[in-house]
Amino acid sequence: MNTTLVINRKGGAGKTTVATTLASYFASNNVATALMDYDPQGSSLNWLKLRPSHLAKIHGSNAAPERFGTLRGVAMYVPPDTRQLIIDAPAGAMGVPLQEMVRRANSILIPVTPSTIDCHATADFIRDLLLTGIVRGRNIRMAVVANRVRRSMPVYQPLERFLHALNLNLVGRLLDSDAFVKAAEAGVGIFELDDGLSVAERKQFAPVIEWVGGKVERSDDPAARNVRPLGVAARSTYNATSGRMYSRP
Ligand SMILES: Nc1ncnc2c1ncn2[C@@H]1O[C@H](COP(=O)(O)OP(=O)(O)OP(=O)(O)O)[C@@H](O)[C@H]1O
Ligand SMILES: [Mg+2]
Repeated sequence: MNTTLVINRKGGAGKTTVATTLASYFASNNVATALMDYDPQGSSLNWLKLRPSHLAKIHGSNAAPERFGTLRGVAMYVPPDTRQLIIDAPAGAMGVPLQEMVRRANSILIPVTPSTIDCHATADFIRDLLLTGIVRGRNIRMAVVANRVRRSMPVYQPLERFLHALNLNLVGRLLDSDAFVKAAEAGVGIFELDDGLSVAERKQFAPVIEWVGGKVERSDDPAARNVRPLGVAARSTYNATSGRMYSRP
C-alpha cells in the first residue's frame, strides 16, 4: 500500500482538494483506494457522501479524534487490498496526532497558497516537521504543490526561494479555478468532470499524480471496462526521475 499524507498546518491551503482529487483519480483508474480523514470537520468524508453511486468506490476511513460513542479503531479501518491510501490532515495538526499521521506515510505532499503569509507559515511547519526526525529517519519523500495560483502571477518568487532554502521540490502548480470547486460540490474529482470543464486543471495536476503514484495500475476487473483511459501521465512535463521542478504546461 502506498500512503500519501496531504498536510499543512495552515488552514485552507488545499489539503482536502488535493486529497480528494488524488483519491478520485486512482479510484477511477480501478486502483483500490481509501481516503483517511483525520480532520474532525470531516471534509473528505463529507465529499465522499456526495459521491455519485455509479462512480468508482473509494473507501472512507475516519481517523478523527474519538468522540463519545465511537470506536476510533473501527472507524479508521482500511481494507487490506487497498493500493493507494490518501490521508487528509486537519489544519493545525501537532503533537501525537501529527506523529501518527507522519509514521503512516510513504510520501508527504504539502499544498501551499502562494502568499507571503502562507509561505512563512508553511516554512515554519516544514521545519518543525523535519525537527521531529521522523521524516528523515524513515526516508519519507516530501514535496510541495502550489495551490490557488493566480493567472496574473504564475511564478511567485518568495515561494521558490523558500522551496530552494528547504531543498524541496515543487511538483505542481494548480491555478485558482472553478473546476476544483465544482468537483468538490459534486463529490467527484477534476478527472471525472466533463472533459471540457477541466482540461487545463488535469494537465496541472498530472505531475502531482506522477509524483504520488508513478504508474496507475489497472486490473482485469470487468468494472474497469467502464473507466475511460485518462492518459494523464503521458501528457505530463514533470521529470519524475530527475525530480526537477517541472515547466508549466
Ligand atoms: N485550486 C483551487 N481553485 C479554486 N478553489 C480552490 C482550489 N483549491 C481549493 N479551493 C477551495 O478553497 C477552499 C479551501 O480548500 P480546501 O478545503 O481543500 O483546503 P484545506 O486545506 O483542506 O482546508 P482546511 O484547513 O479547512 O481543512 C475550498 O472551498 C476549496 O474548494
Ligand atoms: Mg480540509
